[in-house]
Amino acid sequence: MLVGLDRADDAGVYKISDDLALIQTVDFFTPIVDDPYRFGQIAAANALSDVYAMGGVPKTAMNLIAFPAKELPISVLRTIIEGGLDKMREAGVVLVGGHSIEDPELKYGLSVTGFIHPDRVLTKRNLKMGDRLILTKPLGTGIISTAIKGGMASKEITEKVTQTMATLNRVAAEVMRDFPVHACTDATGFGFLGHLAEMVLGSGYGVRIQASNVPVFSEAIEYASMGLVPAGAYRNREFRLAMIDFAQKVERTLQDVLFDPQTSGGLLISVSAERAEDLVEALKARGVEVAAVVGEVIGEPKERILVE
Ligand code: CO
Ligand code: CO
Ligand code: CO
Repeated sequence: MLVGLDRADDAGVYKISDDLALIQTVDFFTPIVDDPYRFGQIAAANALSDVYAMGGVPKTAMNLIAFPAKELPISVLRTIIEGGLDKMREAGVVLVGGHSIEDPELKYGLSVTGFIHPDRVLTKRNLKMGDRLILTKPLGTGIISTAIKGGMASKEITEKVTQTMATLNRVAAEVMRDFPVHACTDATGFGFLGHLAEMVLGSGYGVRIQASNVPVFSEAIEYASMGLVPAGAYRNREFRLAMIDFAQKVERTLQDVLFDPQTSGGLLISVSAERAEDLVEALKARGVEVAAVVGEVIGEPKERILVE
């Protein structure tokens, strides 16, 4: 066992031989968009992401389905699975099975198995002094989903955020393989700052974040100022606020976006300072357009996050 429950990471890692380790992860949730095909794509992209966050390559997957068969036509389920399969194909992943149950609440996701070289496993906490932190997708999907549910979001931003959540972290993971990356995770339910806190705790270092450099959907700021902030963002804030210092200029609406629970968010990468800009350029060249350096690893204060 290379990565297990004792130090919860994005996925478990089990060494098979000197040059092969298995990565295993599972993730499923209730619909966050109305379109069943898109929901299938997003749920699959989200489940596959934890393999990418470990630096690995996903290989096989199994469907996990809870479906209200008495209330919804079976064609809805077929469309969800088709959306999931679309993302598995794009990831080069083979669907090898699955399990479905009848449930009053629809849920879909995947159990995923991937491969990695045992020496190349990227955990969350291996930050190095002076590293730069890079984020590869904009924040605000939870706030915008709240606005969508409330009927407040435009068609345009609904499409944009859906597209972002359905985008695999595959390209970002492939690109970072050629760089001196020391640690990685993906921004999901705990929000950007919550996942950053997990990287910082036990690392022996602190981080400084340049809030204005963090990629965010401008609509998320707008909706947050209207109070459309999901309960999860408040929970994330309450949980981690004690280890975060916000500069005066970082407004509450932006803080809310930094704590916003993400679905299928981007990778959060810690890379050697001297190659950080090259990595951002390489990501952009491969179509990861919003990738940006958002902060750096500092010696003091230890295990704290400064947001400036
Ligand atoms: Co993760
Ligand atoms: Co995870
Ligand atoms: Co996960």
